[in-house]
Amino acid sequence: MITTARLRLRPLTENDTDWWVRLHADEEVARFVGTYTREQAAARLQAIHRQWTDRGHGLCAVELRDTGETIGRCGLNWWERFGETEIGWTFARPHWGHGYATEAARAVLDWGFGPLGLDRITAMIHHGNTASTAVATRLGFTPLREDTVLDRPCTVYALDVSTSARRGRP
Ligand SMILES: CC(C)(COP(=O)(O)OP(=O)(O)OC[C@H]1O[C@@H](n2cnc3c(N)ncnc32)[C@H](O)[C@@H]1OP(=O)(O)O)[C@@H](O)C(=O)NCCC(=O)NCCS
Repeated sequence: MITTARLRLRPLTENDTDWWVRLHADEEVARFVGTYTREQAAARLQAIHRQWTDRGHGLCAVELRDTGETIGRCGLNWWERFGETEIGWTFARPHWGHGYATEAARAVLDWGFGPLGLDRITAMIHHGNTASTAVATRLGFTPLREDTVLDRPCTVYALDVSTSARRGRP
């Protein structure tokens, strides 16, 4: 449903359960986002499906346009607890270092600030996650507050539609 120069983003479904488990089984991927049993992954994908149904947005699988391979996930996640819409990015390790996370996230920001009409999008990043912080900084996010997610301290970064527009996005 969203395409970029190299990528295609589509809603994640329950059919992605085994892929989700495999993605998070890599200890480097799981370092800040955790591992999932098959049951936990199925529950997470059901919750993602509910967000798509209830809010018209959610997390996407990211595929390489050239091969169709699913290489990561990126999209929007509504946090009831914070009253905020967060962007997330997690990619399989062989696909780090190619700019895919930044490219997918740019398209998600255009979608969120454009057709979805969001005013602010956040990114919650655990302390020490330098790769994720670099993605957020490249996209123009700046620190908003300190918080706790999954019982670990994180910095909540934010990008507002007005700032985003000044950087040339809708
Ligand atoms: C966070 C994460 C997605 C970042 O991945 P990444 O590959 O570093 O980020 P990008 O895809 O934007 O790639 C940027 C790198 O690709 C390089 N690159 C290579 N070819 C490129 C191209 N054609 N276009 C843009 N960048 C390119 C950039 O120079 C940059 O390299 P650098 O890190 O050495 O400066 C990845 O580390 C990850 O999945 N981590 C585990 C899960 C996680 O922690 N998620 C975040 C939770 S908050």
